[in-house]
Amino acid sequence: MTQKLWTAVDDYIADTMIPSDPALDGAIEASREADLPDIAVAPNQGKLLQLMARMVGARRILEIGTLGGYSTIWLARALPPDGELVTLEYDPKHAEVARANIARAGLSDLVEVKTGRALDLLPSLTGPFDFAFIDADKISNAEYFRWALRLSRKGSVIVVDNVVRDGKVIEAGSDDPGVIGSRRLLEAMAAEPRVSATAIQTVGIKGHDGWAVALVIAD
Ligand SMILES: C[S@@+](CC[C@H](N)C(=O)[O-])C[C@H]1O[C@@H](n2cnc3c(N)ncnc32)[C@H](O)[C@@H]1O
Repeated sequence: MTQKLWTAVDDYIADTMIPSDPALDGAIEASREADLPDIAVAPNQGKLLQLMARMVGARRILEIGTLGGYSTIWLARALPPDGELVTLEYDPKHAEVARANIARAGLSDLVEVKTGRALDLLPSLTGPFDFAFIDADKISNAEYFRWALRLSRKGSVIVVDNVVRDGKVIEAGSDDPGVIGSRRLLEAMAAEPRVSATAIQTVGIKGHDGWAVALVIAD
């Protein structure tokens, strides 16, 4: 019943507030046809990411975890014409589907999809990025946060997806890599004096999960 209600409310929000869009709908469809996993952010989450990037006036965005480029398209549309989004994707097939989806959205000039392990690619990047969205392998979240921070400036925002994991985040002794990754991340954010951070639970078509959000308050 609960998931049914969360899904119905998300559908209502999307129907009411998020008009269908050929590039975004097409990205989901092409990802499905290519057998990519159905783990992109929900439409209302994509819109929220875009709004947050606009709120901070992002000109450079870093994304870790591209999949088929759905969240990438939402975020790239927050950029000015001379903006830049760098997105990191381990799986070459996902990266190829994403590049095609991003091209169909007319965003290829703004977006670079880099293929490889994020932890191998991150040292080659030059900051600062104004906004970072972390949504790849969850066990590495604390390291991704540290890299995003290193590549940020005062005023940058870092968002991390999937930190609540059906509530399992409270299981201190869990051996689930996702839970371990979430707990390490939240502890790293809490211990880092250069950010002010929190996490929120979310429910919706993606189940019960949550985002961590950090504002960089010192260089
Ligand atoms: C949850 S999906 C990303 C969804 C996407 N952000 C969206 O909402 O449309 C996670 C992606 O991270 C990629 N990934 C997993 N481990 C990775 C790693 N070590 N480095 C880079 N990407 C990785 C996966 O291949 C997958 O495509």
